[in-house]
Amino acid sequence: MSINSKTQELKKRMQVVLQGGGEKAVEKQKSIGKLTARERILELLDQDSFHEYDLFVQHSGKDFDMDKKILPGDGVVTGTGTINGYPVCIYAQDFTVAGGSLGFMHAKKICKIMDHALALKTPIIGINDSGGARIQEGVNALAGYGDIFFRNTMASGVIPQISVILGPCAGGAVYSPALTDFVFVVDKISNMFITGPDVIKTVLGEEISKEDLGGARVHAEIAGNAHFFAESEQECFEQIKDLFTYIPWNNTKKAEPFPSKSPKIREYKISSVFPTDPAKPYDVRSVIKSIVDNSDFLEIQELFAPNIVIGFARMNGDTCGFVANQPNALAGVLDCNSSDKAARFIRFCDAFNIPIITLVDLPGYLPGIDQEHAGVIRHGAKILYAYSEATVPKITVILRKAYGGGYIAMCSSHLKADFVFAWPTAEIAVMGPEGAANIIFRKEITSSDNPEQTRKEKIEEYKQKFANPYVAASYGYVDAVIQPNDTRSYINHALEITKNKVQVNPYKKHGLPPF
Ligand code: HXC
Repeated sequence: MSINSKTQELKKRMQVVLQGGGEKAVEKQKSIGKLTARERILELLDQDSFHEYDLFVQHSGKDFDMDKKILPGDGVVTGTGTINGYPVCIYAQDFTVAGGSLGFMHAKKICKIMDHALALKTPIIGINDSGGARIQEGVNALAGYGDIFFRNTMASGVIPQISVILGPCAGGAVYSPALTDFVFVVDKISNMFITGPDVIKTVLGEEISKEDLGGARVHAEIAGNAHFFAESEQECFEQIKDLFTYIPWNNTKKAEPFPSKSPKIREYKISSVFPTDPAKPYDVRSVIKSIVDNSDFLEIQELFAPNIVIGFARMNGDTCGFVANQPNALAGVLDCNSSDKAARFIRFCDAFNIPIITLVDLPGYLPGIDQEHAGVIRHGAKILYAYSEATVPKITVILRKAYGGGYIAMCSSHLKADFVFAWPTAEIAVMGPEGAANIIFRKEITSSDNPEQTRKEKIEEYKQKFANPYVAASYGYVDAVIQPNDTRSYINHALEITKNKVQVNPYKKHGLPPF
């Protein structure tokens, strides 16, 4: 065979595989607004950077006439490329080939690219679009999922792991995304559930649509399994590219620095976004935007547990993780969901060398039967654990209320914040003045000729004594009481000073966080 005919043969073989599941299957995929696996990879990665491997892998199924079937690439596309010029490993399940179902060789391809990612210390991106374990391959398909979950766990905290749900992700398959760091979903395209509507109807007699059970909005708003919600696949890819500008490529690196930029102060000025009335809610994102470079803030899990805001921004060109109570939602209380949301983010920042900036304004943990029975004790403990364990620079600014357990939990000096600053508007106390006065001055109030007047006076007395930053500052729990408009310069200086921070926690095999 001449070289020419050999290259022709390669071309032909490649053409067959690159057609995926064939014209009809591709048409069906497009008709519901979905791109094909290769189109998705090409849209996401830098132009001409994608290199595909294991194109000619064949499935190994024999039962149910599978030995007579050809499944191009065994339903998954794997390879390497770059995003913003930096290397990534990637796989995308191809729904046009046997519904992207996961058989033995399909899983082997995924595991191989995951092994590459871990060995080469590059992020791994998995695009999920699959009917789940390939039913005809039985236990070999289940084994494949087990092998992926093991690798997800080993890679956790070493390389960033991104899951993109662009189709069904059913059954045990959902546990790979759940083990990764960031899950992206697209409205009307993503579906995730352990058991689908049919099983639920059979077992429980309950009827629900796929969308209402496990659509993108459900995961972004209610279940909290998704971190980013997009209206289209294209928007989703832009979100991923944006995220990659903020995170490092592995746990031995820092995120790439950018040129420092001042906040767009014309639009955001701390004194204008912060209300003078201490009882009034406000949007803490405006405060964040008034502090950070160019007022750019990439919010994560925006729709879930909105009483806490988390996300990335840059200070003086370097990535920081922001955790902030949101007075606009439930007064910014900590509850089960907001504690889970913040704790996982804090651990991501700590694992990937990203300093954490905490903005505090909360009345405490949310009281109530629902929360107590939902386990607010163990959920709330996660945030204490995550902050205490984190060894990256930790800088806290108390804006207004810091009451009770909330004061401690939001990266107080007791959990080893490197610097705690407080605005003159800060109120640091065991509880709010109204509640406190009612308890400690109960006798005086009830025995008074004018209980209402006495209550008012006692509340004022308590406020004067404790609801300010100066008592905490007198014990050194607050390092500096600062003017709000100096916040950026204090944080930038603290980041500069903590740049070479090295903190080693006591040796242990691993801790036991309240999972
Ligand atoms: C084998 C599968 C498959 C699967 C889909 N296909 N899922 N083949 N194993 N799990 C095939 C279909 O037979 C069909 O093949 C092609 O993919 C397209 O599927 P359709 O059903 O025509 O597509 P659609 O109508 O869009 O429905 C998609 C779907 C549905 C909702 C995902 O296919 C479905 O319900 N599949 C099963 C989902 C499921 O229960 N998975 C859990 C498996 S158990 P042809 O040849 O006709 O084109 C599991 C446990 C893992 O995952 C545990 C790990 C711990």
